[in-house]
Amino acid sequence: MPLYKSIIIDADTQLLIWKNTESLEELSQQVQLKDVCSLRLNGMKSELHKKGFLGVRMLMQEIGYTDFDLFYDTDGKPHLKDGKHISITHSYAFSAIIISSREIGIDMELQREKIITIANKFIEPEFAYLDPLHLSLYMQKLMVIWGVKEAVYKMMSRSGLSFKQNIYVFPFELKEKTGTASVQFEEINETYPFFFEEIEDFILVYCLGTKTTQ
Ligand SMILES: CC(C)(COP(=O)(O)OP(=O)(O)OC[C@H]1O[C@@H](n2cnc3c(N)ncnc32)[C@H](O)[C@@H]1OP(=O)(O)O)[C@@H](O)C(=O)NCCC(=O)NCCS
Repeated sequence: MPLYKSIIIDADTQLLIWKNTESLEELSQQVQLKDVCSLRLNGMKSELHKKGFLGVRMLMQEIGYTDFDLFYDTDGKPHLKDGKHISITHSYAFSAIIISSREIGIDMELQREKIITIANKFIEPEFAYLDPLHLSLYMQKLMVIWGVKEAVYKMMSRSGLSFKQNIYVFPFELKEKTGTASVQFEEINETYPFFFEEIEDFILVYCLGTKTTQ
């Protein structure tokens, strides 16, 4: 049973990570899917993607949910029928979910040097505190900033929200594994805490929003 890690963040926020070691057949036998999700799964070309998708359902089953408790809105954001918030990520062998009565967002990415070449697509003011001369630290910080912006985007799910213009990551230290991001967009002017950790060659980031369910 490859539940990789479970983190209790607070009384009603839980993060779970799955690492796939099973075959697609083994996973499929253990997960019951709604028709719409079976169709989606069958339409996926990559086996890795299929396993990531099923890994998410395995994690849900770990804590008493099934695919039947999950639905998506028209933007692709997942929701739980009981009103709790859920955010989902999958990358290569890993799948991760975070569930809470707060708004939340999660992202997991393989750390890659390519992040350096695309940095100017998602960063602007943050360049003021980044130091490209320390290449390894620079890359790690870019990975965290990217993960934070993806996680914040998933939490907000607002069309037109720009990584570069509307989400700002305040200066942070890698060793502290936490920081603050702000969002200024339309009526929103808020700051949110984020947390990150390295999992093998990946970076896992999650952010916490305001409490909106019991
Ligand atoms: C949708 C998006 C957030 C997905 O992130 P990703 O890193 O590609 O993939 P991940 O595996 O981490 O996350 C995928 C999950 O995000 C969730 N998701 C998709 N759209 C979402 C949305 N609008 N809001 C919240 N969550 C969403 C889904 O649960 C999806 O998995 P599932 O469909 O299998 O359940 C991302 O592709 C995106 O659109 N980002 C914002 C656009 C942008 O500005 N990008 C780059 C700027 S330089």
